[in-house]
Amino acid sequence: MTKKVYVGMSADLIHPGHLNIIKEAAKLGLLTVGVLTDKAIASYKRLPYLSFEQRKMIVESLKGVESVIPQDTLDYRPNLLQEKPDFVVHGDDWKEGIQQKTRQDVIDCLAAWGGKVIDVPYTKGISSTQINESIKSIGTTPEIRMKRLRRLIQAKPIVRILESHSGLTGLIAENIKVNVNGVSQGFDGMWSSSLTDSTSKGKPDIEAVDITTRMHGLNDTLECTTKPIIYDGDTGGKLEHFVFTVRTLERHGISAVIIEDKTGLKKNSLFGTAVPQTQDTIEDFCEKIKAGKNAQVTEDFMIVARVESLILGKTVEDALGRARAYVKAGADGIMIHSKEKTGMDIKEFCEKFRTDNQSTPIIVVPSTFNHITEDEFSTWGVNVVIYANHMLRASYPAMVDVAKSILSNSRSYDANDRTMPIKEILELIPGTK
Ligand code: SPV
Ligand code: MG
Repeated sequence: MTKKVYVGMSADLIHPGHLNIIKEAAKLGLLTVGVLTDKAIASYKRLPYLSFEQRKMIVESLKGVESVIPQDTLDYRPNLLQEKPDFVVHGDDWKEGIQQKTRQDVIDCLAAWGGKVIDVPYTKGISSTQINESIKSIGTTPEIRMKRLRRLIQAKPIVRILESHSGLTGLIAENIKVNVNGVSQGFDGMWSSSLTDSTSKGKPDIEAVDITTRMHGLNDTLECTTKPIIYDGDTGGKLEHFVFTVRTLERHGISAVIIEDKTGLKKNSLFGTAVPQTQDTIEDFCEKIKAGKNAQVTEDFMIVARVESLILGKTVEDALGRARAYVKAGADGIMIHSKEKTGMDIKEFCEKFRTDNQSTPIIVVPSTFNHITEDEFSTWGVNVVIYANHMLRASYPAMVDVAKSILSNSRSYDANDRTMPIKEILELIPGTK
């Protein structure tokens, strides 16, 4: 009887290594390829360049592939129990490192019906990681970048966004990775904050820095990164102006704008009720959302409504009523903000909002309630966490400290251990040499 063979792969950057595995696997029998879904891939590395449908289509047309099914988890077992293959074929690189456990799980699972793992010698000289690095150096297009946020929200339990107010902070959001229990963790995108954009220009956060000026600055981040960007649109300004802002952001490949339901002279939310701030009427704010949605050209751009009720000392019920109205008006997401330290008002909002709305993305900005972890937010139903000001708040005290040290010692020598070595700054940006 013809044997059944199973191969699992992401198939994002198909190279001769993949073709070799498929060729070897097809020699053993009828080959089913489990193409990993965006969700499965995003659980351990970056989102694939191509969508699941595109990757499936490519694999289906490869010689030797009999059928393609989705593999929804990194764990092969759910598909193996369904398919009961005689062989699972994989590159022998999975005998080492983080994939060892996956391999052992496959071996144990197949044993139940006498199936076997076949390890094909890894094709040397080419890897997806290398190709990925080359692609990164080419950059991205506005369209691809813009679409990425929606895909990330679909694929990941929580999308992690870092504030950027310069090319350099953009590079941090783009490149910094940390290995946590064997899984590489990085940021998914950038937040263009009105607070840090204004502050880094020495201006107050009161919409005094206009969109044209902010776009000039944001262009530095766009130039040296590929990840999606969420733009802090303050109040959105006048409705008649907001429609132009939407077009401008969209043309630059920004994924989303967040506008807050305040009117008049905007003050930063973290002042709370310590300064006079006026909330917009539900009707007027809904009109602004509608005008923005009508102005956008693509299907992909997102307009997120930011509810300021809790900031202004109003109730969770007030926030919920507004959020529901804004969704009805066309908002693609809700940002719920608070300056309360416990985060319990945010939790209550999210859980109540989720009782009758499971799909509209919820965004939070934990600047004050920052003891809560991403996993916890995820269980409340939150989709996106924005670290809204941390790059600026980290750099300013460090700079002041060194400036003071120079003044105190009439030389810079004493601050040597608080400044990066000259060699490192010279090598920081590729192409400096
Ligand atoms: C910003 O980063 O500018 C924000 C978030 O709007 S907050 O400062 O908390 O209002
Ligand atoms: Mg702001």
